[in-house]
Amino acid sequence: MKDYEIVNKRDLASNVVEYNIYAPYISKHCLAGQFIILRVDAEGERVPFTICDYSRENGTVCILVQTIGYSTLKLSKMQIGDALHDVVGPLGNPTDLSKYESVLLVGGGIGLAVIYPQAKQLKAEGKKVDVAIGARNISLLMYVDEFKQSSDNLYLITDDGSNGKKGFVTDVIKELVDGGKKYDAVFAVGPLPMMRAVCNLTKEYNIETIVSMNSIMVDGTGMCGCCRLSVGGKTKYACIDGPEFDGHQVDWDEAIARGKVYKEEEQEHLCNLRREYGEDK
Ligand SMILES: Cc1cc2nc3c(=O)[nH]c(=O)nc-3n(C[C@H](O)[C@H](O)[C@H](O)COP(=O)(O)OP(=O)(O)OC[C@H]3O[C@@H](n4cnc5c(N)ncnc54)[C@H](O)[C@@H]3O)c2cc1C
Ligand code: FES
Repeated sequence: MKDYEIVNKRDLASNVVEYNIYAPYISKHCLAGQFIILRVDAEGERVPFTICDYSRENGTVCILVQTIGYSTLKLSKMQIGDALHDVVGPLGNPTDLSKYESVLLVGGGIGLAVIYPQAKQLKAEGKKVDVAIGARNISLLMYVDEFKQSSDNLYLITDDGSNGKKGFVTDVIKELVDGGKKYDAVFAVGPLPMMRAVCNLTKEYNIETIVSMNSIMVDGTGMCGCCRLSVGGKTKYACIDGPEFDGHQVDWDEAIARGKVYKEEEQEHLCNLRREYGEDK
């Protein structure tokens, strides 16, 4: 097997693909909460993805990728047997779950790539773990069977009510806590506005809330400064200080504004690539 070979590829939902990649060094050392940075080809951008699962035995890591732009579209064209140009990792700090006995994991969209290994770990350690996953509609709900096996209670929420409860993840958190559920912490991972909404709510309930920040990254080693954030009034780097932070301390306005900085260039690159692939009709 070649290093960084795609050993399995599976469509999970519209525009979301699961890849298993042969990367024995990374699979041997990685833990929940960590990520890799890959390049599709020699000219490729460095693109970060959470390690959603791994097999130390097979030497593989699993990532879930939402095809949204230039590099993820290029990646989606790769097939089983193709090899990525390079993959570095494991990067970032592993999740520290040691001080919690009862946790609510909240995943929005592709954010479930982060909470899945956390759920597995909590379940394996015999701790209480409830999971709430939210998506825009039924076609975007993923890993439902996997989460059923790795949680005590699983709550599904869709914006349009096409599966599970209609509404937003914040509605479910409110219902659970108002109904008497006690959690030592909430882990919320998903789009920035969703994480901010969860943090605003849990602040009212005084429940510690950890978020995983998907800031724009380049080197992943703390040198380029791209992924900087303000947390509790201090500058932090998501790649080396995080990616997990106390969500009640994050400056969300700044993080959301920084995430949009390259929107025009990203759109232009994507349009050019679509044209190259003949997908611009
Ligand atoms: C620690 C971390 C873990 C992540 N885990 C996952 C995951 O498991 N699955 C997944 O689908 N996505 C994940 N992402 C986001 C993923 O990196 C971006 O979707 C990807 O870089 C988009 O690249 P693109 O060229 O296809 O799209 P582009 O058109 O370049 O960008 C689309 C959007 O993706 C984000 N983005 C672009 N470049 C980067 C970059 N270098 N670093 C971070 N974000 C970027 C921006 O918000 C941008 O607006 C993660 C990001 C971080 C920082
Ligand atoms: S990605 Fe460069 S400092 Fe974090």
